[in-house]
Amino acid sequence: MARTADEIKEAVKEHYGGRAREVASSCCGTDSKGYRDKLYVVDEVADLPETVTSYGCGNPTAIAGLREGEVVVDLGSGAGLDCFIAAKAVGERGRVIGLDMTDDMLALANANRDKLGATNVEFRKGEMESMPIDDAKVDVIISNCVINLSPDKDAVFRESFRVLAPGGRFHVSDIVLSRDLSSEERDDLSLWAGCAAGALLESDYLGRLVQAGFTNVSVDSRSKVGEKPWYSATISAHKPRNAGGCC
Ligand SMILES: C[S@@+](CC[C@H](N)C(=O)[O-])C[C@H]1O[C@@H](n2cnc3c(N)ncnc32)[C@H](O)[C@@H]1O
Repeated sequence: MARTADEIKEAVKEHYGGRAREVASSCCGTDSKGYRDKLYVVDEVADLPETVTSYGCGNPTAIAGLREGEVVVDLGSGAGLDCFIAAKAVGERGRVIGLDMTDDMLALANANRDKLGATNVEFRKGEMESMPIDDAKVDVIISNCVINLSPDKDAVFRESFRVLAPGGRFHVSDIVLSRDLSSEERDDLSLWAGCAAGALLESDYLGRLVQAGFTNVSVDSRSKVGEKPWYSATISAHKPRNAGGCC
């Protein structure tokens, strides 16, 4: 029996809500600092409090080529890690919106923003399948290990295309599959929350981006951990300069 979108979203919220509460209630952060240092250039994250935890599978800011003054949206911003790195890159003239659907994660991200005094970052509650963001106002979309969690990836890609300005860029890290999963694996809600059961094959991922209107769709890097039938990939795509303001 295939899982419904509501079941999947509830399982994902429960899982990440729990992880956020764990960090918020711990006196000295969690053990994720070592993990964070593996994914990022150490200097980039050295000044961030330990409560700016990483639940990602890559570093989308490393491939996004962010420039001063740009408007960036981070899909599924978690504790805010990529938002804070992006905020430094775009500077005071730029703006970063972290979008997340989980209340406890938004509370953690807002507490982190207050600790850092990051005035050009806003965390907004919402779902990436129907983003509370205006048409064609965003320069860059980033996301780290989140799109695999969506039961409706086509909606995420459609919405990404809608909010990007013509010429806008899409740079994400995500989990993709090296083989199709069995129906038992696909129905496993803990495997959904663990970023595997909802993942697409790489060719399917790229094909759906093209279907949504993106061009120059490419895989920038791949990294496999262990023998699981999935791996992490960084993926880029572009909204053509001659695309209309909206869809
Ligand atoms: C694996 S964590 C990644 C967090 C962050 N990007 C990072 O690298 O640490 C997934 C995050 O995406 C959020 N999320 C999952 N599905 C979402 C959706 N459909 N819309 C908005 N946020 C979502 C979760 O609440 C969680 O904070």
